Amino acid sequence: GRAAALHKTVVMVGMMGAGKTAVGRALAQRLGVPFLDSDAEIENAANMSIPEIFERDGEAFFRDRESQVIGRLLKGAPCVLSTGGGAFLAEANRRMISERGVSVWLKADLSVLWNRVRHKDTRPLLRTADPRATLRALYEARVPLYSEADLCVISDGETSIEQMVDRVIAALA
Ligand code: S3P
Repeated sequence: GRAAALHKTVVMVGMMGAGKTAVGRALAQRLGVPFLDSDAEIENAANMSIPEIFERDGEAFFRDRESQVIGRLLKGAPCVLSTGGGAFLAEANRRMISERGVSVWLKADLSVLWNRVRHKDTRPLLRTADPRATLRALYEARVPLYSEADLCVISDGETSIEQMVDRVIAALA
């Protein structure tokens, strides 16, 4: 049947490589609402890639943009909003998200995340001498914060995107 009207924006949170963008886009399509992505909004507004923004203006600048973009998008009509992996860390962001949206943590094991990010060069935070150790450190520091999300759905690396969407919809019900 037709999906019930969405009253709150569904905000996808979790580590880089968890599948926030892929699952978020498919979820939006299934729900018949727009899909928005805070990283893409920031890149489009700056006309620069995320690595370029980090390099030119620094992480603090990026975080500031990220908070502004998320705040603005949450004021619009209900949609699915995918956020960058660091977006749920700032308390002010978590508060905005919990006031205006429902947060879904896409939870994945470190090995799954690493396999998804290891061949890409799009994450400035992983441009370190030992990106695998960096990813593990970020993961360990962030899990306690992600666990404050309203809902949690496991992303195990074997489940298809459509099955992930089924799980998110079941969790939202
Ligand atoms: C970041 C994750 C990235 C992007 C930026 C910082 C993070 O988004 O926002 O590189 O702090 O984890 P994805 O989670 O979509 O990779």
